[in-house]
Parts: sequence; C-alpha cells; structure tokens
Amino acid sequence: MTRAYVPYSRFHVGAALESTDGTIYDGCNIENSGFSLTNCAERTAFFKAISEGAPLRSFARIVIVSDDPGFTAPCGACRQVMQDLGGPELEIIMANAKDELRILPLRALLPMAFDPSALPGHHPA
Ligand code: THU
Repeated sequence: MTRAYVPYSRFHVGAALESTDGTIYDGCNIENSGFSLTNCAERTAFFKAISEGAPLRSFARIVIVSDDPGFTAPCGACRQVMQDLGGPELEIIMANAKDELRILPLRALLPMAFDPSALPGHHPA
C-alpha cells in the first residue's frame, strides 16, 4: 500500500497474495494518465506471482487493504482475473482500519462466473 502509485485518485491499495506453499506476493495499485490502464493492487499481486512461476490456482488467500477505513472490495475486473488465476475457492480477506476482517470465498463475490474451462480446447493447468 505504501508503494502505490496513485497521482490521480490518491487512493492507496495494497494486496498480499499467499500461495499454498506459503509464499507471499504483494502488490499495489499503479495508475496511468490513460486512466483505464490503471492496474489494481490485486492484479499486480497476481501478475507478479504468475510471472515469478507460481502455478495457476495454487493460491490460498488474498488480503486487501486501502486508505478507506472500511472494507475494500475488489473491482469486477480483478474478480474475473482472480477467477482465472486463483479459482472460485480463493479466500478474499478484506481488512479495515480497526484490523477487523471480512472473509468470503471468491465464488460468493463472483457468482455464476465465466471460467476458462468454458472455452473450447481448454487444457486444465
Ligand atoms: N483499486 C484497487 O487497487 N483495488 C481495489 O480493490 C479497488 C480499487 C484502485 C484502482 C485505482 O487506482 C484506485 O483504487 C481508485 O479506484
């Protein structure tokens, strides 16, 4: 969160993605002058993990924190990326400023999700 590059929104977000072997991949949001190119903290963490060789759907949980004193829910784009790379059982942990947690599986945040297995020629990882 402290590394977030947020010159436009000034809204700092941090994410910590834990793989099933205990490795933590962290991420922050990185904004862009072409606003739609902004990368959320959750996607940064996932893209770092995959680019560093973590296997597909080998993740237990992701924690999300932000400047908001309340809970920060992942955006729709991140939910779909988490579906593909993390899978429906990924635990989404939202932490607020009082260190309270709200914990839900991705399947509760993205019901009836589009899944890569729907694509013809899909090869499971
Ligand atoms: N943002 C995240 O990084 N993750 C979320 O879960 C919600 C939104 C970022 C995107 C943008 O840089 C800023 O927060 C305001 O939308």
